[in-house]
Amino acid sequence: MKKHTISLHPLGKELRVNDQTPLIDVLHEFGVEFPCGGKGTCGKCKVRLLEGDLEISAEQQTKLDLLGLTTDWRLACYSMCTGDITLEIEQFKHLILADETEFSFTPAFGYGLAVDLGTTTLVAQLIDLTNAQVMAVESMLNPQVRFGADLISRIQASMDGSAAEMTQIIRSAIGTMISQMLKKHEVQLEEVILVGNAVMQLIFCACDVSPLSAYPFHTSNLGIKILNTTELNWKFQVRDSVKFYPSIGSFVGSDILAGIVATGLHLKEEYTALIDLGTNGEIVIGNRERIVCASTAAGPAFEGANISMGMRAVTGAISSLNQVNGELEATVIGNTPAKGICGSALIDAVAILRKIDKLGMFGEINSGEGDILLTGKVRLTQKDINEFQLAKAAIAAGLTILAKNLSIELSDISKLYIAGGFGNYLNIENVVETGMIELPAEKIVKMGNTALIGAKMFLFTDLKITEEILKKSTLINLEANHDFQDIYVDKMLFL
Ligand code: FES
Repeated sequence: MKKHTISLHPLGKELRVNDQTPLIDVLHEFGVEFPCGGKGTCGKCKVRLLEGDLEISAEQQTKLDLLGLTTDWRLACYSMCTGDITLEIEQFKHLILADETEFSFTPAFGYGLAVDLGTTTLVAQLIDLTNAQVMAVESMLNPQVRFGADLISRIQASMDGSAAEMTQIIRSAIGTMISQMLKKHEVQLEEVILVGNAVMQLIFCACDVSPLSAYPFHTSNLGIKILNTTELNWKFQVRDSVKFYPSIGSFVGSDILAGIVATGLHLKEEYTALIDLGTNGEIVIGNRERIVCASTAAGPAFEGANISMGMRAVTGAISSLNQVNGELEATVIGNTPAKGICGSALIDAVAILRKIDKLGMFGEINSGEGDILLTGKVRLTQKDINEFQLAKAAIAAGLTILAKNLSIELSDISKLYIAGGFGNYLNIENVVETGMIELPAEKIVKMGNTALIGAKMFLFTDLKITEEILKKSTLINLEANHDFQDIYVDKMLFL
């Protein structure tokens, strides 16, 4: 079969591929995402053709025209390699989240592995169990992104016949990450612990996700899963076992369970809250007596979905905005020209525009124009602002309803932790300004990747502790609360 070379700019990578290889098959391995699952509607898989020829089908041309993309652009999800080409990739490598939390531990024997299996990003750390030190870290995009960016797309793809493939590629990706770490450190693993949301758990463990596709969105199959390396087709040994930790309920997974352990929420007398602004926006409030939690529809906007120039916190994204001498000043990840805006800067933009009276209390652009220029070519449209209002109202309403459920006031919460992919870029004052979190800024703490921190703590923690947390945790269906609509609509306003 004829072979071609694909040169990826600016990664400096050259790939040899067979004739007619779909670009989606090779690019996703390099971290290129396919947010709409290859439907040609989002335009976020676009690549610029620098050299060579890449045919455009009539269908792709229609999509390119609709997206306003001119001659040198192609949609990777629609393109096949038929000759030597050089492509400029619009998306860049995801940032590795920092681990900033120290925790006390009882030393154990050997080495353990903690994995945060995120919808978007996979992060794994090799831990020396004698001293809790991190020996190696690997991070990559979840290769399932080719089946869609959000959980609903993944569930749909799984039900449409890709379940086995999705299980195989995620097992293989994590196995490869671990093998790479074991190449650098030839050690015997005692245990591997994975955490992730319920959909990621079910897919990794080769369980049926279809119960999560329709009302009542319930499956009883979310307990701890114990697996072995043979069934996972991993080529290294794990002396004890591979454990995927239990979910609290549908759409509130073991990543949140890990977050509870990481924040120590379950140990405190006073009430503490945790909000994860990842792909799925989860909220927890609780103390050592009782914990309530819920998932909201807030996540996608903060991850760049449904925002016209939205993107995740990767190179080229505006990560923060400040007002300096009456002008907006942008900080861009990677110090490159701004290509789009990520969740933290979206919050900044709305807070600043509201402060300088460019936005009204209903979120309307006061000038009456359809958009506002932020910096360079990056604009925020009226629709983007309305999407933000939906997301911030989901968080604010969720917090209010969970507090009511515990019969407490929001002011009874002593501390609120924010976790999530862009958490480290957040300007807390601006979060408060938008009304997304109705607590004083000094009570709000950014905590990075609480899922990974918790997964590492599980390496040193008796399973009984997680069983106790599960016993005192209740999953709340926010929409079922008869006040939900009123509260939700109310929280959309900028007061
Ligand atoms: S246009 Fe959305 S993945 Fe290609």
